[in-house]
Amino acid sequence: MGVDMGELRGTHVPVLLERCLELLAPALGRGDRTVHVDATLGLAGHAEAVLERHPSTLLIGLDRDTEALAHARVRLARFADRVHLEHAVYDELPDVLARLGYPGIDGILFDLGVSSLQLDAPDRGFAYAQDAPLDMRMDQTRGVTAEEVVNTYGHPELARVLRVYGEEKFAGRIASAIIRDRERVRITSSARLAELVREAIPAPARRTGGHPAKRTFQALRIEVNRELAVLETALPAALDALTVGGRLVVLSYHSLEDRLTKQALADRVRSKGPVDLPVELPGSGPTFRLLSRGAELAGEAEVAANPRAASVRLRAAERLDPEERQQGRADRERYRRRATTTQEPGAGSAVTPARGSRRMPRDGTGTDEEGEGYGRQQA
Ligand SMILES: C[S@@+](CC[C@H](N)C(=O)[O-])C[C@H]1O[C@@H](n2cnc3c(N)ncnc32)[C@H](O)[C@@H]1O
Repeated sequence: MGVDMGELRGTHVPVLLERCLELLAPALGRGDRTVHVDATLGLAGHAEAVLERHPSTLLIGLDRDTEALAHARVRLARFADRVHLEHAVYDELPDVLARLGYPGIDGILFDLGVSSLQLDAPDRGFAYAQDAPLDMRMDQTRGVTAEEVVNTYGHPELARVLRVYGEEKFAGRIASAIIRDRERVRITSSARLAELVREAIPAPARRTGGHPAKRTFQALRIEVNRELAVLETALPAALDALTVGGRLVVLSYHSLEDRLTKQALADRVRSKGPVDLPVELPGSGPTFRLLSRGAELAGEAEVAANPRAASVRLRAAERLDPEERQQGRADRERYRRRATTTQEPGAGSAVTPARGSRRMPRDGTGTDEEGEGYGRQQA
């Protein structure tokens, strides 16, 4: 495949790059041949920076998109002797590690969602602003396309996808419009779908919240790629693969992704022992500690320079030494407090906030922790 990295590099700026490097550094810089997994390699912006910063770290890069892998391979060519690139969905991580012979890893990064390469591709159907066949598969070698979803799902299922994954208020109306239209002739293009959605939304609602088809396209993309189901399995597996002191960083761009991440981490930083005991019983203590205070946002300067950073939420954690009871007690205390307040895990912890970054407001203003969407711009 002919790959022009010069042009592509300019279009993709890694989100929260310095913060990710700062969080991963203690784990990757602690010895020779540490192992870092980039679970969402994309155009390898984060991966390249990790390899530059840690000259003896070995990188395992996963992506389900063969085109992204081809670009990443060119970009990382100068590090070829310490890079393994794998065409895999990130829930296949345990198999990949077993096959490559790495039972434990030191760092892992998930930078979720689609890449600019995918969004900007004129022929892949991710963007409502460009007419293309309705594909939307990140891995074009397998799986169902958006065209199949749109033309075969029944009304309840279609409406559920749009409502849950797109947080679309008019999910029922849009599903009805799709079903009416496809009875006439099969829906095959992104432009036709975008127009159909626009017409299904009441005129006053069309004037707010960006392009009327944005939420529908996001929902279909999540459904086609089974993004949430895959993430739900992948996060526990990634945490299991980390050695003591190993660190995980997740960048989410959708409230449902962030919620799954928060839950996966909460499960590990929480004590499973009786709440009224001052010490942990053997095997009941937390296995991880949080490194982020709640969800960290990008700073204003980064958002101004890179619109993709506007919706990012970062969470990170480190695997604890089983002997490290002190920290375990601190986290128990934090979770006990949480049970009596509405605060999220990590609130009040002694973690260091990112320089220049913002945190999720806790008063419900501006951004939301649990409910409303903040999906990445689609076009
Ligand atoms: C936002 S981009 C990553 C950008 C990357 N951090 C960089 O700096 O260039 C997300 C990438 O993850 C890939 N991806 C998304 N879900 C995946 C999954 N479940 N398994 C493997 N790769 C996935 C996409 O194909 C895309 O290339």
